[in-house]
Amino acid sequence: MAFDPRPIGVFDSGVGGLSVVRAIVEAMPFESIVYLGDTARLPYGTKSRETVIRYARRAARVLAERDVKMVVVACNTASAVALGALSDLLAPVPVVGVVEPGARAAVATGARRILVLATEGTVRGGAYERAIARIRPEASVASVACPLFVGLAEEGWTDGQVPRLVAEAYVAPHRTPPPEAVVLGCTHFPLLADAIAEACGSKAVLVDSAATTAAQVKARLRAREAEAPIGPPGRIELFATDGVDRFARVGGRFLGRPIDPTDVQLVNLP
Ligand code: DGL
Repeated sequence: MAFDPRPIGVFDSGVGGLSVVRAIVEAMPFESIVYLGDTARLPYGTKSRETVIRYARRAARVLAERDVKMVVVACNTASAVALGALSDLLAPVPVVGVVEPGARAAVATGARRILVLATEGTVRGGAYERAIARIRPEASVASVACPLFVGLAEEGWTDGQVPRLVAEAYVAPHRTPPPEAVVLGCTHFPLLADAIAEACGSKAVLVDSAATTAAQVKARLRAREAEAPIGPPGRIELFATDGVDRFARVGGRFLGRPIDPTDVQLVNLP
C-alpha cells in the first residue's frame, strides 16, 4: 500500500469551510491541510456564476501552487457553480465538492420531501436539486435562499430571538407539507442549527455535509493509495486573503477550537 504525505487543499469564500476541515481532521488525523479562506471576496453567495468561477479558479491555483494532493471545495456556492471548471483547471489533482455529499446525506435519511437552505447562488443554479434527482428521482426538493444566515453566523448571533425569527421567516412558506430532511447547504448554516431545527419542526432531520464530505475525501484518497502515512497529527496551515484577526476570531467557531491570529497567513490573490 502506497502513501502520500502531501497536504489536502481546502478552500472556502471565508471561514465557514473550517467546519469541513474539522470533519476531515476528525476522520483523518494524520492528514495535513492547507486552508484558504477568500475573505477579501466573501460573500460568494450573492455573486454571479461567472464571478464565482473566476474567484474559485484563483483560490484553487493558490492551493495547487502548494502541491496539494486533492482540493476540497468547502464552499457550497463554489461547489454548485464551479466544480467542473476547477476539475478541468486542476487535473490530474482530484477535486471534491460539498454538494454531492450533502445530497447523498439527505437521501440517506430516507426523506422524500427535502428542503435545501443555501445561498442565492447555490439556489439559482439548482445544483442540489440535480444531485438529489440523480440519486432519488422521486424525491421532492424545494430550495430557499437564506442570505441573512451568513451574516448572523459571522457575527456569532446564533442563539436567541433574532436567528429564530429569521429562520421562521425563511422556512414558514415551505412547511406545508413539512419537510422530512433539511439540507444545511451553506458552510455557515450549521452554526444556526438550533434556530433552523425549531423553525423546521421536530420531524425534520437536519443534514450537514461536512462529515459526508470528509468520508468522500477519505474514500477517494484510499482508492488512489494517497492517504497520509500513520504518524504524528497532520499540520494545518491557514491562509486568508484579508483580515487575519477576524479570520481567527470567527474561524475558531467553525474549527471548534481557538485560532491564534499569528497562525493565519495573509495571501494576495493575483
Ligand atoms: N461559503 C458560502 C457557501 O457555502 C457561504 C458564504 C458566502 O456567501 O460566501 O455557500
